Amino acid sequence: MPDKPVTKPLLRTLAGERCAIPPIWLMRQAGRYLPEYRAIREKTNSFLDLCFNPKLAAEVTLQPIRRFGFDAAILFSDILVVPHALGQHVTFEAGEGPQLDALKDPEALNRLRIEIDHSKLAPVYETIERVKPELPASVALLGFCGAPWTVATYMIAGRGTADQLPARLFAYRHPEAFSKLIDLLIEASASYLVRQFAAGVDAVQIFDTWAGVLPADEFRKWCIEPTARIVASVREQFPRARIIGFPRGAGTELQRYLDAVPVDAVGLDWMMELSFARDYIQPSRTIQGNLDPLALLAGGAALDHATDAILETFGRHPFIFNLGHGILPDTPISHVERLIARVRNHV
Ligand code: CP3
Repeated sequence: MPDKPVTKPLLRTLAGERCAIPPIWLMRQAGRYLPEYRAIREKTNSFLDLCFNPKLAAEVTLQPIRRFGFDAAILFSDILVVPHALGQHVTFEAGEGPQLDALKDPEALNRLRIEIDHSKLAPVYETIERVKPELPASVALLGFCGAPWTVATYMIAGRGTADQLPARLFAYRHPEAFSKLIDLLIEASASYLVRQFAAGVDAVQIFDTWAGVLPADEFRKWCIEPTARIVASVREQFPRARIIGFPRGAGTELQRYLDAVPVDAVGLDWMMELSFARDYIQPSRTIQGNLDPLALLAGGAALDHATDAILETFGRHPFIFNLGHGILPDTPISHVERLIARVRNHV
């Protein structure tokens, strides 16, 4: 926690300091594009077994640091361990993504625990404790959780959906029950993040991957307010907790999000226009982003141009280089190497 002197570039940037070379890490940097990840994944039965195996999860967390020397490691886990710890049945089928026993109606909420079962998450906290001493002094360790809205979309649909329609309909049809679910997730997520800080993470990111599908009023109710409550609750325990928000697709609502949610930095998606973000977002907050993951997959001139545009637009103020969403599994390693070299050699 931030009692020690802040020397890690990522933490300095979160504190509002500009680093001459911006810190860089990539969302979903531990994953299938890495052969060493696939080798470990093949040895485990299920994805959740890997998440709950502290030795292997620590190893997978460290893999991208060893290979690329990123400025941050992100804990290897998943946002859906929270529904798991709330008693929902969660599995990951190969090639199909997550499967949960869908919450079809308000009564289904009664199947959930009334609070998070930390004993189910103990392996995650142990992973943090194992990773911490293995990291170079300059590398920050990030924890994370999903934002309540995004996690609720999976809990209600029972799977990933293209349009998050089941959760949106549920929220319109059963606003009271939906609000109860969001409240439960606010408490669970805040308490989960507090435990991650207690175990040793330097900062956390709150992933609201599906924030962008909501109309403005719903966005305020289900994304802004819950995230603000999580941040407040975490800081009751850890007043200086460093937190990055990632309300993907927030668009014109981003300013309102930042007015209400005192995150230290905001992750921008790749749809966000650069000069708009520089002029209207960067003056108030450290920004993180926002290379199109497809440009990284494509490589070559497309990658170089997109990288330079980001560096030139955001480079004069506190800024963390990242993607605008997670790295795609088919991304060549050489493209990641090329990106990092370009970011670190840019003057
Ligand atoms: O490297 C890291 O960023 C740390 C680990 C991490 C994973 N998932 C590992 C993972 C993190 C931070 C996440 C977050 C996550 N998980 C989000 C939010 C960010 C985003 O990408 O939008 C969401 C929506 C999920 C839910 C989830 N997990 C889905 C929809 C899927 C299936 C699709 C897919 O990407 O595979 C997962 C599985 C998952 N989570 C994998 C990994 C490495 C692949 C599983 C495998 O190896 O078989």
